[in-house]
Amino acid sequence: MSDPFPHRHLLGIAALSASEIRFILDQAEQWIEFNRRTRKIDERLKGLTQFNVFFENSTRTLFSFEVAGKRLGATVANFHAAGSSVHKGETLIDTALTLDAMRPDVLVIRHSSTGAAAEVAAAVDCAVINAGDGTGEHPTQALLDALTIRRRLGRIEGLKVVICGDIRHSRVARSNLLSLPLLGAELRVAGPPALLPGWEALGGVPAFDDFDEAIEGADVVMMLRIQRERMEAALSASLDDFHARYGLTRERLARAAPDALVMHPGPMNRGVEIDGELADDRSRSAILDQVEIGVAVRMACLDILTHGRRTE
Ligand code: CP
Repeated sequence: MSDPFPHRHLLGIAALSASEIRFILDQAEQWIEFNRRTRKIDERLKGLTQFNVFFENSTRTLFSFEVAGKRLGATVANFHAAGSSVHKGETLIDTALTLDAMRPDVLVIRHSSTGAAAEVAAAVDCAVINAGDGTGEHPTQALLDALTIRRRLGRIEGLKVVICGDIRHSRVARSNLLSLPLLGAELRVAGPPALLPGWEALGGVPAFDDFDEAIEGADVVMMLRIQRERMEAALSASLDDFHARYGLTRERLARAAPDALVMHPGPMNRGVEIDGELADDRSRSAILDQVEIGVAVRMACLDILTHGRRTE
């Protein structure tokens, strides 16, 4: 039988086929049920070492990778760039080689530079998972988004998905723009022209600067964080203006399909890209489902990528 996931690393959705994505999602299903138990102990990664190497801040991704590894029995250690020798001038690759010399089996990396995870993967002996590289990709976010949609709406194929916000700078958007069409969804993006990439980068996905038009009939409305640090440079508008044109409100959601699902990768700016009251309505909002499913997806990724090492 052929290997359902013949990859050493998980660097981006771009390298995956639809069947490989579905394989990860199917594997993750078991961990959702497992994580709802009181006792969450599985020892399949016992004896293996996982390093979480974060050069950028994170709540969801870092913590869920840590919980995922520990629930599978791995020894997990976290490297935070703040307080490390990076501040003495040590390069990314020297840092990666130093950590690799401590013999981890898997290294999960987040870095502000696009392509950083691939550079590290080429230099080290262990499996590498990209936990977000600059404006490149955030593959485990796209995988957890896909599984959240599949579980909440029963399918992905044929659904209309609109992604709204800072598409140009978002690695979440980039990974979802690759994964969701592969799984049969029909995508649209919306945002201010200054925050929309060109047609080529969108892979032919239609782009709208009018969110009211883009959201019409959508089954899934995925809002992105407005990156305040980039907002001033890219837009002349204020956050209030942004909310008026691109914020998700109940009134605007009424244009979408009757039971349209609301998603956001977090962290969210309440009252800017999404109304807090809508974000908190669990009958419409899947934001906390995304967090829960994120742990399961990361368990599946760790399990799949370390399978070869465990059978050596
Ligand atoms: N969605 C996401 O990547 O969140 P964190 O930055 O908190 O990890």
